[in-house]
Amino acid sequence: VNMSVSCSITNGENGPLPKIRRVPVQNKVTVVLGTQWGDEGKGKVVDLLATEADIVCRVQGGNNAGHTVVVKDQIYDFHLLPSGIINKDCKAVIGNGVVNIPELFSEARKNEKKVGFPPGLTWWKENLIVSDRAHIVFSFHQQIDGLLEAMKGHGKLGTTKKGIGPTYSSKAGRMGLRVSDLVGSEAGFETKFRALAELYQQQFPDLQIDIEAQLELYKGYKAQLQPLVKDVVHYMNEEINSTEKKRILVEGANATMLDIDFGTYPYVTSSNCTVGGVCTGLGIPPNSVGDVVGIVKAYTTRVGSGPFPTEQQNSIGQTMQKVGHEFGVTTGRLRRCGWLDLMIVKYSHVLNNLTSIAVTKLDILDGFDEIKIGVAYKHNGKTLPLFPASLEILSEVEVDYVTMPGWSVPTSECRRYEDLPVNARNYINKIQEILQVPVKWIGVGQSRTAIIKL
Ligand code: GTP
Repeated sequence: VNMSVSCSITNGENGPLPKIRRVPVQNKVTVVLGTQWGDEGKGKVVDLLATEADIVCRVQGGNNAGHTVVVKDQIYDFHLLPSGIINKDCKAVIGNGVVNIPELFSEARKNEKKVGFPPGLTWWKENLIVSDRAHIVFSFHQQIDGLLEAMKGHGKLGTTKKGIGPTYSSKAGRMGLRVSDLVGSEAGFETKFRALAELYQQQFPDLQIDIEAQLELYKGYKAQLQPLVKDVVHYMNEEINSTEKKRILVEGANATMLDIDFGTYPYVTSSNCTVGGVCTGLGIPPNSVGDVVGIVKAYTTRVGSGPFPTEQQNSIGQTMQKVGHEFGVTTGRLRRCGWLDLMIVKYSHVLNNLTSIAVTKLDILDGFDEIKIGVAYKHNGKTLPLFPASLEILSEVEVDYVTMPGWSVPTSECRRYEDLPVNARNYINKIQEILQVPVKWIGVGQSRTAIIKL
């Protein structure tokens, strides 16, 4: 068959396609994320940057994370709310993570009622935005979290039992309920809720769900939630492309080594806490990511099970635990402690392309005679090129350390780099030299002001 197709372009006789002017992203987002196993002290750095931000976003996870922000006499604990909520002029966005709605409201009200100075966060309703694509954590997800951990016996993951993993399972299983379902038709929500609850009841005979009571409860929340809900994809894309200058900050929750794809699987969380999670959590393209600030605690901690090459199960680890108050904000569990492991942070840099780092909790190392930094892993006598995927290998590695002299002078009052004892400066220099990423902040205490800016 001989066919000829002719096509003509209406604009210009056989001319070239009209030119399109590509407008670059106007307002790139700055991302703050944990480079280790969490609890690096992201909250304080986020809070510091949030004081100058117009929008602060959470992009993944749920109330399994906990930031503590200390401002003057006030201590704020945030689990779901972006820390930027402290700032009256800042929008606080919850992207496509998972939200426990009763806990979201109780956290907001707890912070609203705080007395003293600074005052309670009375403005949260005007500033909080919740994505219509976020998934809802129901109380049965929490129950399932507990049931699954109990069934695992010795192989327990050490989850926070907040129902985050089961909610992400519902999402991946295409049966989860989203915020858009709750604020949509009542009948639609009810049908989906019943289907999900009944399915889980079949799977877990011990699971008790009072479906009618839950439906009533969520009817009540619908009206409260509705004014906060937005299409975050639309909202964020308007903001990043706005000609008006907008300073946008993303606060990572959890941390790189807890990332479901790149972390120490299976001892990880259920979401992507590396930089890719920013795009999937907000619906913004990769070229809208600007600076990526990595938070590096001056030593390493980890909650729950799994291999931990630089762990110090001795008086060194106990001192870090005690002086560093290493127990969880969300669970109260004691954290395992050890020397700084730069194999982990280097891997985090590979994954996230850190543009700067903040070294936190340097003050906790005051008083050690010597301080070690893990710089390489050896397995069967061979040096590994990068952090391994296999936990079997990770549990067998030998760590090569650089040993540095400690310092006995307290660092908590230092506000300039020059104020730090020389050995503390050498420690920071060594970190920067090995990572080849500039250190921009050094945390030397809990309060908002206990930080050195470089
Ligand atoms: P997750 O999101 O759960 O991983 O935690 P996080 O990284 O947000 O940690 P968080 O901000 O809760 O910080 C942990 C603790 O360290 C809090 O009690 C902070 O106040 C404290 N902290 C942060 N920076 C410093 C520091 O430089 N020195 C000291 N001593 N404490 C700090």
